[in-house]
Amino acid sequence: MKNKLSILNQKIEEAKLGGGEERIKKQHSKGKLTARERIHLLLDPGSFEELGMLVEHRSVDFGMERQKFLGDGVVTGYGKIHGRLVYVFSQDFTVFGGSLSETHAEKIVKIMDLAIANKAPVIGLNDSGGARIQEGVNSLGGYADIFYKNTIASGLVPQISAIMGPCAGGAVYSPAITDFTIMVDQSSYMFVTGPNVVKTVTNEEITSEELGGANTHASKSGVTHLVAANDKDCILKVRKLLSYLPQSCDHKTPDIPYELGEELREKIGEIIPDSPNQPYNINDVIEQLVDQDSFFEIHKKFADNIVVGFARIGGKSIGIVANQPMSLAGVLDVDSSRKAARFVRFCDSFNIPLLVLVDVPGFLPGTDQEWNGIIVNGAKLLFAFSEATVPRVSLIVRKAYGGAYDVMNSKHIGADLNYAWPTAEVAVMGAKGASEIIFRKEIKEASNTTMMLEQKETEYAEKFAHPYKAAGRGFIDEVIDPILTRRKLIRAFRMLENKKVQRPLKKHGNIPL
Ligand code: HXC
Repeated sequence: MKNKLSILNQKIEEAKLGGGEERIKKQHSKGKLTARERIHLLLDPGSFEELGMLVEHRSVDFGMERQKFLGDGVVTGYGKIHGRLVYVFSQDFTVFGGSLSETHAEKIVKIMDLAIANKAPVIGLNDSGGARIQEGVNSLGGYADIFYKNTIASGLVPQISAIMGPCAGGAVYSPAITDFTIMVDQSSYMFVTGPNVVKTVTNEEITSEELGGANTHASKSGVTHLVAANDKDCILKVRKLLSYLPQSCDHKTPDIPYELGEELREKIGEIIPDSPNQPYNINDVIEQLVDQDSFFEIHKKFADNIVVGFARIGGKSIGIVANQPMSLAGVLDVDSSRKAARFVRFCDSFNIPLLVLVDVPGFLPGTDQEWNGIIVNGAKLLFAFSEATVPRVSLIVRKAYGGAYDVMNSKHIGADLNYAWPTAEVAVMGAKGASEIIFRKEIKEASNTTMMLEQKETEYAEKFAHPYKAAGRGFIDEVIDPILTRRKLIRAFRMLENKKVQRPLKKHGNIPL
């Protein structure tokens, strides 16, 4: 027995060394942690149970039968985060550059199957040179097996992808299918074709960082939801993100016990400027409404005319969607619509109630928007809200104009509670634009056109630039003093806690993708 145990221990030690000390040193010299170090930082201390540590690849081409590393370039298993079960895989760049072989893929699929059967999140720590080149189609098949499993798991269990090194070629499609992607600044990149192919095909000269680095994907493409300063920051962000999410679509959110007190927030009444055209930061409103320091913004640098993120209100985990008047006056455009739609769908998949803060002057006009499909992209957000059955509460803080009023979680598309502040303006458009259209003739014929326009603008504003017409129709449930808002929202989400909606049975809807 002693001898047999020593063979086992020898194998375990060998597996733990991955591609060997030299390659581990190289990994560290790039400022990167190893696959195992990442897992130990990610999971609660002592909770990791590894599976498949002794798996080896089956390739016999190009002398591969003589180059075997126990575990085959990926560490897989399960453990706990904040005391809750999660499944994890962590690619080991020290073994064939973390490249994906048939067996490496099988290990990932195995833990995904366990996650699906046991209803717990999957976290992938990606650091890979892509398909194991020596294996040809076996490795391509392995990728497809993972993509398929990602799709089956989508909406069933949360899936988070951390990109902590290269992620290129078809490999990018697994993270893209998962719910959230976090990239490490300067040491990770994602692209379908790298700088060399780009140069050959389009003659563009570009670095990996510019083409597919963390900042590029955070601001230009929106492919990544979060950027981390380094490996440690990345892992901590994954842990934080998970703290808001339920285990699966069958679980409730991980709420924190909360005693409801007075909850008055005096400063909140000072945020909205007197002039309707003056910008302000919607994050200041969010901070005043949610539990202290609980707002965790997602997709911050992409389409910043809309803000999305998780927070707690009275201890309850919620998703927030808010127009941002600081950027493009908070209009809806192609990118902000699809950013918000994806977030709304995620929250609805996983029973996370939605709070929507509205200050929207409409949709962004222009050829760029029309030709890039503002019609279908705006429709995505409309569809996502209409389809959502989680508790949905809206607060109109200022403008709610035109089609954007309908889209931003209006009563008409199924919101449960619609509040407005006295500063709200619910109308087809702003008073100036409206007067120029409906009083065109009177203004043109007036001896003083400027005075006439101002007079008509005031007339229109008095009639429509307030929440009372909408409240009179019941489209707004209550016009509230900003100071009382937080308390009302806490009560509202508690009241909606057991909401159940039965929709007609069908295979699935056809969201305008
Ligand atoms: C096998 C690989 C590998 C791969 C790297 N290695 N990529 N082995 N298959 N795809 C090995 C190297 O031979 C090396 O082995 C070790 O990993 C580290 O690689 P280095 O090149 O020394 O590291 P670095 O300089 O940091 O460069 C990393 C890299 C580069 C940029 C990822 O290795 C690279 O360009 N690799 C090839 C990438 C690629 O073309 N992949 C296929 C993409 S197509 P030793 O023994 O020296 O340590 C694809 C299709 C998927 O993925 C389709 C799915 C549908």
